[in-house]
Amino acid sequence: MKNRIVRLRLVGWFGVILLAANISSGQTDLQSRNLMSVPSKVVWKTGKLTLNKEFAVSFKGAAHTRLRKYAGRVMTRLEGRTVMSFSGGSGSRTSGPQLTIETKFAGNNLPRLGEDESYRLEIDTNRAVLSAATNVGAMRGLETFLQLLEGGEEGFYFPAVLIEDKPRFPWRGLLIDVARHYQPLEVLKRNIDAMAAVKLYVLHWHLTEDQGFRVESKNFPKLHTLGSDGLFYTQQEIREIISYAADRGIRVVPEFDMPGHATSWLVGHPELASLPGPYQIERNPGIFDPTLNPIKEETYQFLDTFLTEMAALFPDSHIHIGGDENEGKQWDANPEIQAFMKQKGIKDNHQLQTYFNKRILKILEKNGKVMMGWDEIFQPDLPKDVVIHSWRGQKALAEAAQQGYTGVLSNGYYIDLMYPASEHYLVDPLPAGTGLNSEEQARVLGGEATMWGEWVSPETIDSRIWMRTAAIAERLWSPREVRDVDDMYRRLDALSIRLEELGLTHRRIQPVLLRRLAGAKEISALQTLVSVIEPVKQYQRYQQRPQTMLDPLTGLIDAAQADAPGARNFNRLIDQFRTEKQNDADAAAELRNIFSGWRKAGIELIPVMRNSPALHEAQELGPELRDLGEIGLEALEYLEKGSAPGKEWREEKLKRLEPISKPKAALEFAVIEGLRKLINKAAGITASN
Ligand code: ACM
Repeated sequence: MKNRIVRLRLVGWFGVILLAANISSGQTDLQSRNLMSVPSKVVWKTGKLTLNKEFAVSFKGAAHTRLRKYAGRVMTRLEGRTVMSFSGGSGSRTSGPQLTIETKFAGNNLPRLGEDESYRLEIDTNRAVLSAATNVGAMRGLETFLQLLEGGEEGFYFPAVLIEDKPRFPWRGLLIDVARHYQPLEVLKRNIDAMAAVKLYVLHWHLTEDQGFRVESKNFPKLHTLGSDGLFYTQQEIREIISYAADRGIRVVPEFDMPGHATSWLVGHPELASLPGPYQIERNPGIFDPTLNPIKEETYQFLDTFLTEMAALFPDSHIHIGGDENEGKQWDANPEIQAFMKQKGIKDNHQLQTYFNKRILKILEKNGKVMMGWDEIFQPDLPKDVVIHSWRGQKALAEAAQQGYTGVLSNGYYIDLMYPASEHYLVDPLPAGTGLNSEEQARVLGGEATMWGEWVSPETIDSRIWMRTAAIAERLWSPREVRDVDDMYRRLDALSIRLEELGLTHRRIQPVLLRRLAGAKEISALQTLVSVIEPVKQYQRYQQRPQTMLDPLTGLIDAAQADAPGARNFNRLIDQFRTEKQNDADAAAELRNIFSGWRKAGIELIPVMRNSPALHEAQELGPELRDLGEIGLEALEYLEKGSAPGKEWREEKLKRLEPISKPKAALEFAVIEGLRKLINKAAGITASN
């Protein structure tokens, strides 16, 4: 993700939003309880399986060690949740609650594309039976089983149910960019655990960039030693992550971005560049010129050795070669490259990149790998199993599918852009009415959320990935008709707490950062503030608050989150207040509480922020929060009295909202629209928007 192409991305993104908004959000008839992703078939039955400390798991059929270990961890999670110790152990028994896991095939040692992930889970009052064709399918079913746990006066239980489930798409991924910011192994591991919990299947490991080369190469050690500030994964660590992911039924697909996004390669190997060096690790975000030289045989010899090494290190069938955003400036500036193009009849840089891609393709094919790359690699004589990874739009994906290529969608799933879950959720790789025939539809393999790493640290990355990625995971797993946004949020909130049991820090990091920002001061007012502000969207953060990759990610913006929960609740209340007369009194009371809370917090924040230097950049937000609270209270008062204020009141309040609606420290209030609606309502203006 880079800033110079903001315009292009804007167009792509909003195209998707408009498309999504046009599709009515059909209510599903599934009662989904806390299941996320919603299974393809659920039949609730009467009765329940009561959980007690006799509970045990047993296996039938071909259970792989990976599955046995998985079930062991499931038991530990159940124990943690229920504060019970299961003494039943494993092994088939005739009495007591138990879960029997039946698998037909031991399956592959490593998960792979196209694996049967379906499962069937039947729970009755005596026992639960989970059956699956493969061990990976059983893992998916175990996560569903865990999500079914409920508790009440009579203790913990699983409701009786029959679930038959399978994914809608085989490629359900999360890209983690560890190049802009290195992420330690434990961060990757806990996020792999969370991926498994939401039934994702592919960790797309974005390992190289202008800003860092993060994988050890034994053949070319200067790549990682000079290109990474010492922050790279040894091959042993890479194998550890692959094995950890495989234990959880997750594939690991590496990306080595080329020929652009390659500055870090050139620090140790300037001879590979299209213009003479020296080169240094890039510290800024953006698109940069350094590009591999596509006309030198030496480049291909190097890449042959390097990719052959990586092909052995990464066992998955696919290798991603990036290929995005090569603007070809170094190619234009190099007379030898220009002469080469003329001599070979290569018309433009895109064709030159195609020449490069084809040479890389040969290397990958020789190593038995399938090539994957961003949209830009697409051109019509590539082999048909090449995977086109679309970051520019659904249209590109559909076109590729029509021409016989498989594809994966990421446009609409850019979680680094700070949009709410609701918007990602409604983006469908295969919306109804695409016009693709069934064969073409089958070529749309799925999608990937992309956690680009410019503004994430090991502390904050969980809070950027989750919970929005769980909404995307559901889009990729559940039937297309499952698209009730309110129900999605309800289930997301339930799941969020359960992800914490895996060690995810997506919730707890916020108070940690706020305490650090405020020093010894009380943070409850700051918490009220961050519940209604969000980081600016798109690529505005860097424009409004420039930083390099070496700068700290510990500001108020890093504590704030997309989809601010207080704002979401407020906006829901405002809509309810405007549309449902009978709820007005309740909604008004709740709104009054909220406004009083804002006013109080805003007043308290003034000295807190003044006396906390790390918060000075955001100081204006205190009095603004106070004013938002006051405006809200005034509006409610008019509504309660039933007397509309004069025209001047409305104008004055709307005018006050203008400066408040402008971002400060790259943070913006996510409640402004709701307040505008309330002001208009108080003033007797009942415009429908
Ligand atoms: C990309 O965002 N340039 C793949």
